[in-house]
Amino acid sequence: MTRYPEILPVIDGTHHWLVTGAGGFIGSHLTEALLSLGQKVTGLDNFSTGYPENISLAVEASGHGENFSFIERDITDPQACREVMRGIDYVLHHAAFVSVPASMNDPSGCFASNASGFMNILEAARINGVKRVVYASSSAVYGDNETMPKIEAETGRSLSPYAMTKYINELCAEFYTRVYGLECAGLRYFNVFGVRQDPNGAYAAVIPRWIDAVTSGKTPIIYGDGTQSRDFCAVQNVVKANILAALSPSSPGKVFNIGCGVETSLNELLGKIYAVFAPERKPEALHEKPREGDILHSSASTEYAREVLKYEPAVYLEEGLRIMQEVMTQ
Ligand SMILES: NC(=O)c1ccc[n+]([C@@H]2O[C@H](COP(=O)([O-])OP(=O)(O)OC[C@H]3O[C@@H](n4cnc5c(N)ncnc54)[C@H](O)[C@@H]3O)[C@@H](O)[C@H]2O)c1
Repeated sequence: MTRYPEILPVIDGTHHWLVTGAGGFIGSHLTEALLSLGQKVTGLDNFSTGYPENISLAVEASGHGENFSFIERDITDPQACREVMRGIDYVLHHAAFVSVPASMNDPSGCFASNASGFMNILEAARINGVKRVVYASSSAVYGDNETMPKIEAETGRSLSPYAMTKYINELCAEFYTRVYGLECAGLRYFNVFGVRQDPNGAYAAVIPRWIDAVTSGKTPIIYGDGTQSRDFCAVQNVVKANILAALSPSSPGKVFNIGCGVETSLNELLGKIYAVFAPERKPEALHEKPREGDILHSSASTEYAREVLKYEPAVYLEEGLRIMQEVMTQ
């Protein structure tokens, strides 16, 4: 039902992939998709925000558990990174301190995983002769730049420690590609959604939070008037982009926006969530005051990814929500 592997590029031969953050939302989808394509996968996670259950669900859905191994380690441990990288062809680096608001309260914790931990990944990959590192950057690097749609070359001043670390990642990756010859490619994700995204916690993303609310009879909360807009990107597109970035001859040293290039307001999103998950309910929301630091609009120009990676989104918002609904009611 997640539509793997039919929407994915063909991978020639069998390679050994390391997925860091495999217990998380995106990492578990990468694991599922690669296994379903007959690839060998090692997952790494410290389960700070991820769950062992995400891994078991992904491995089970792929039908190829025999090609999977897992190591519970922390990327802040350089030795662990070096050990796990032995014999790895491709790294899809997704382990990170992921919460923007939490990074405001704990910048050092954020830098430990996202800056030092990222360095450990690059260094281990260089020492072990990894073919390529694809890493998760973020639309957060656009910071206070209000240009729309977001174009790769036009970033802004950081609005959080999280955003700073993602920008630092891009600088480090470009350096490792240019100076050490370790091929790296960065993907600036916009608002990714799909099953296995955590609906709980103070910093949960809007889609899982609202689905949880509408399916349990509660009223979703909108911070502000709901006219803010985002580029909601189904996780299937992110998986596709990772494989393209890992295999494209032209991606090293570059960074790409990965979204759908479609702006949807929160009010529109809420209507679509009600329509798919609770068609019997009349859409309603509680409005609270806007959250500090929230940007008003964000959507990706996907032109560069289309041109260089041949990336085309395969699943748009409504279909992505329907896929989630089908998987959740299985
Ligand atoms: N979900 C989005 O919309 C989005 C948008 C932009 C960027 N990203 C980036 O994509 C990546 C994956 O995000 P996600 O949404 O799947 O989040 P997630 O929290 O579900 O996954 C992150 C995983 O990394 C693990 N982890 C965290 N710190 C670690 C450490 N020090 N050592 C080992 N494992 C560690 C966590 O336990 C978790 O399983 C992150 O780098 C995030 O910054 C996500």
